[in-house]
Amino acid sequence: MATTTSNSPEQTRQIASRFAASLPQGSIVAVEGELGAGKTHFIQGAARGLGFHGAVTSPTFTIVHEYPTGQGPVFHIDLYRIASPRDTAALGLEEIFAAGRATFIEWPERLGAELPPTAFRVRIAIAPDPQRQIELPDSSDPT
Ligand SMILES: Nc1ncnc2c1ncn2[C@@H]1O[C@H](COP(=O)(O)OP(=O)(O)OP(=O)(O)O)[C@@H](O)[C@H]1O
Ligand SMILES: [Mg+2]
Repeated sequence: MATTTSNSPEQTRQIASRFAASLPQGSIVAVEGELGAGKTHFIQGAARGLGFHGAVTSPTFTIVHEYPTGQGPVFHIDLYRIASPRDTAALGLEEIFAAGRATFIEWPERLGAELPPTAFRVRIAIAPDPQRQIELPDSSDPT
C-alpha cells in the first residue's frame, strides 16, 4: 500500500495507467472516494494503461460500460444508483468478473459483502482541491 499525491486530473490518469498496467488478468479493482473525488478520471487512466484509448465517461445511466482491449474487455461499473447489494444480482457480476481483463467499480461500498475479497482497493481523497491523495495497493500482488 502506498499513497501518492496527484495535482491534476491528468496526473491522476497517469498514476492509474501505471497502476493498471501490472494488474493480473481478471483483476477486480474497487475505486472508493466521495462525489467528485476522481474515480472516473482514475478509471479513464487505468483503461488507457490497459490499451483502451477511446472515451471513458461515468456510466451513471448504464451502470456497466465495456472497453475493448487486445487482452479482453475492461469493465467499468458505477454502482452509485444501486441501493443495496440485492439490486446488483441482475447485473451478472460473476460473469463480468470472469470475462474481464480487469473490472473497475465506482461506489463498491454498494456491494457490501458481495465485493470479492480478492478485489484490489484504491482510495481517493480530496486533500485539498485540486490535489488528491491516492492510496494504491501493489497491483502485481492480489491479496
Ligand atoms: N487531481 C485531480 N484528480 C482527479 N480529478 C480532479 C483533480 N483535481 C480536480 N479534479 C476534478 O475533480 C472532478 C473529478 O471527477 P470524476 O468524475 O472523476 O469524480 P468521481 O469520483 O468519478 O465522481 P462521482 O462520484 O460523481 O462519479 C473533475 O471535475 C476533475 O476535473
Ligand atoms: Mg464517477
